[in-house]
Amino acid sequence: MAHHHASLEFLLSRASTDNLVEPPPKGDQLRDILSAALRAPDHGRMRPWRYTVIKGKHREAFAQVVLEAMDRQEPDAPAAKKAKRRDRFSSMPMIIALGMHIEPDGKIPVIEQEMSVAAGAMNVLNALHAEGFGGIWVTGAFSEDRALLETLGLKEPHRLAGFLFVGTPEKPVEGRKRADVDDYMAIWKGEPVTFGADAG
Ligand SMILES: Cc1cc2nc3c(=O)[nH]c(=O)nc-3n(C[C@H](O)[C@H](O)[C@H](O)COP(=O)(O)O)c2cc1C
Repeated sequence: MAHHHASLEFLLSRASTDNLVEPPPKGDQLRDILSAALRAPDHGRMRPWRYTVIKGKHREAFAQVVLEAMDRQEPDAPAAKKAKRRDRFSSMPMIIALGMHIEPDGKIPVIEQEMSVAAGAMNVLNALHAEGFGGIWVTGAFSEDRALLETLGLKEPHRLAGFLFVGTPEKPVEGRKRADVDDYMAIWKGEPVTFGADAG
C-alpha cells in the first residue's frame, strides 16, 4: 500500500464490531462525535439528522419497545432471533438511533435527505474510531414500526436509518477482508466504462 498520512491510515483501519464493552463515549466527547455527523454533505441545508441516545438503565425498556415492534413487523421471527435482539438492545453499552427528519414536499429529493443521514452515520462511525471507540450499524423491519419511531420523536413522515451499537471494542477489531479497489474504480476515457467487480 502506498504511503499515506495518519488520518487516511485511520480511515482505512476502521471496521465494524458488535463486540463492545463499557465505556461508551459520554458528555462532551459524545457531543463532539455527533458533531462530526453534522459535517455530512446536506443539500439545501435540510439538517435531517436526529440522534437519540439510549444508554444505562433505559436500555432494558427500549429493548422491550424493540420486541413489541418485532411482534408487529416480524411476527414470524424465530424465538432465538427475538431473544438475541432483546439481549443486544439491553446489553450494548450505548445505542444511537439514526433518525431521519424528512421533508417530502420540498425541492430536495427524499433520497438526498436520506443520503445525508447515511453520510452522517458514517462520520459517526469514523469519529468513534478516531476516539478509540467502536460500533456497528444495524437495521431490521422492526425499525419501521410506527410506535417505535414515535418514541424516538419521529412522527410520519420521519423515519429511521437504523441504529448504531456503540462502545469500546473488547479486543482489536480484525475486520473482514476488503475488496480490491481496482475492481471498483475506472478511469473514463470517452467510452463506457466497465468494472472488474462486474466481470464474468
Ligand atoms: C444501512 C445498513 C444496515 C445494516 N444492518 C445490519 C444489520 O442489521 N445487521 C448486521 O449484522 N449488519 C448490518 N449492516 C452491516 C454492518 O453495519 C457492517 O457494515 C458489516 O458488519 C461489515 O462491517 P464493516 O463496516 O467493517 O465492513 C448494515 C449496514 C448498513 C449500511
